[in-house]
Amino acid sequence: MNRNPLIPFALVAVLGIGLMFLLSFKGLGDMKELTGEGKEEEKTEDVANASPEEIFKQNCTSCHGQNLEGGVGPALAGTSLGEDKIKETVTNGKGSGMPAFQGTIPDDKIAELAKWITEQ
Ligand code: HEC
Repeated sequence: MNRNPLIPFALVAVLGIGLMFLLSFKGLGDMKELTGEGKEEEKTEDVANASPEEIFKQNCTSCHGQNLEGGVGPALAGTSLGEDKIKETVTNGKGSGMPAFQGTIPDDKIAELAKWITEQ
């Protein structure tokens, strides 16, 4: 027996290290999937194609109600506010409760949404 007794250990070590690399690359792929990376573009496209009603459902009903009847925020159905005032409020927010949507909803969509609200 003049074989080097370290060789089996070295083999196991090399295999183990290889496996580690393999798993961490797989992990990176999974992470991308989990965080939804690369889906950002799809999302902005969704907003661009969404109707005012859909945008309202996604962004506003939690505070202003399913039917604009109000909740945390004031009722918007039959509001006496004009289109411009609504546009300004949605863009810049109001008080401490109403968030600003500039950057979240594109400007032209906010304009459509404001018009839609005055029609409810
Ligand atoms: C986190 C809760 C919340 C969300 C989400 C929210 N709002 Fe508001 N909103 C409020 C609150 C609270 C007020 C009252 C602010 C004040 O008067 O100080 C308000 C006020 C307003 C007003 C002015 C109403 C008035 O009579 O003065 C408009 C218009 C409005 N919101 C539209 C929207 C639209 C459109 C969206 C979705 C894009 C939206 N809000 C999303 C909470 C919210």
